Amino acid sequence: MEIKGVQIYYFSGTGNSRNVAKWFSQVAAEKNIDCQLTNISRIDRIQIEKPKPGNLIVFTSPIHGFNYPPIMLHFIMRFPKGNNPVVLMNTRAGMLVGQWITPGITGIAFYITSLFLMLKGYTIRAFYPVDLPSNWISVHPGLNQRTIKFMHEKIKEKVRKFSLKILSGKTHFKALLEIHDLILFPIAVMYYFAGRFLFSKTYYASADCDHCDVCIKSCPVKAIIKIDNRPYWTFNCESCMKCMSHCPGKAIETGHGFIVAYSILFSMVLSDLFFHFFELTFFNIEHSFLHFLAESALFLVILALWYRLIHFLLRFRIFERLMVYTSLTRFKFWGRRYKALKE
Ligand SMILES: Cc1cc2nc3c(=O)[nH]c(=O)nc-3n(C[C@H](O)[C@H](O)[C@H](O)COP(=O)(O)O)c2cc1C
Repeated sequence: MEIKGVQIYYFSGTGNSRNVAKWFSQVAAEKNIDCQLTNISRIDRIQIEKPKPGNLIVFTSPIHGFNYPPIMLHFIMRFPKGNNPVVLMNTRAGMLVGQWITPGITGIAFYITSLFLMLKGYTIRAFYPVDLPSNWISVHPGLNQRTIKFMHEKIKEKVRKFSLKILSGKTHFKALLEIHDLILFPIAVMYYFAGRFLFSKTYYASADCDHCDVCIKSCPVKAIIKIDNRPYWTFNCESCMKCMSHCPGKAIETGHGFIVAYSILFSMVLSDLFFHFFELTFFNIEHSFLHFLAESALFLVILALWYRLIHFLLRFRIFERLMVYTSLTRFKFWGRRYKALKE
């Protein structure tokens, strides 16, 4: 199969997927293949054109909640029909144990998007997960610079070999062996419909914020607005971690204490109160699935109000300190930020 050109579409929060896109394009350039890189976070500013005949299409993005993040999923769904060959790549949470880079979990990302693309007429040529340093510092301590550098160098070489293989017309389907990932389907669905909204409300700016607005300007999906002269995260947030990693004053934290307090309050008081009132007044939601859906929706609605209240209370020093010292990201053992090494 002769590849006439390459069109790479990527989304990236902290730079891993951007690097992978660049590494692939460098190999294409070495082989004198014309390569076009498109950052899809400017989705509202770009028109998605039908791919040129004979071009190889590459999609790459991080994995969020065992799937591609919504921005990439929606982009692929909107992608015009065509019959080009396609390569699906992702970057996911690698860790280092000794000299071994442990793999992240792709979940359902490849299965679901390849299905969409095949229905549009495309032919899948490869699935390739790339294990780069995990950026999910809300849920685990940040990696140190030595580990980041080691992983960066090692994985760059692997991506290079993969790119050479694909650009010489070969296929690569090893990732399909990770079929056990399909059991994560329910969690991936729950992340899409509820989890991501919960995560979007875990960020806040501490008193260290000097109003430089870097977070607002650099947010790839424009999810951060200003309320009461302080950054405020809307439900549009993809939790890509760019704001936390780019804040020059390290003022953006994940409010672990806040979210634990809310979850306890909700499960012990708010949900029972609401359903008691609701069942007395309207009707009985006995079906357990409907009950689950109603409870999740209620959780998010009250979360939005709770988050707004917290945002208001943050103006009081004593409350702000309470928030800060119940945020794990504040502490030295946890709080390193993550930014991929620049090429
Ligand atoms: C909200 C969120 C969810 C994540 N979920 C997963 C996951 O399900 N599986 C995984 O392997 N990595 C997961 N990660 C890690 C990222 O996919 C990984 O670090 C990726 O390389 C970041 O790419 P970027 O720098 O291009 O944004 C998650 C990260 C974040 C921020």
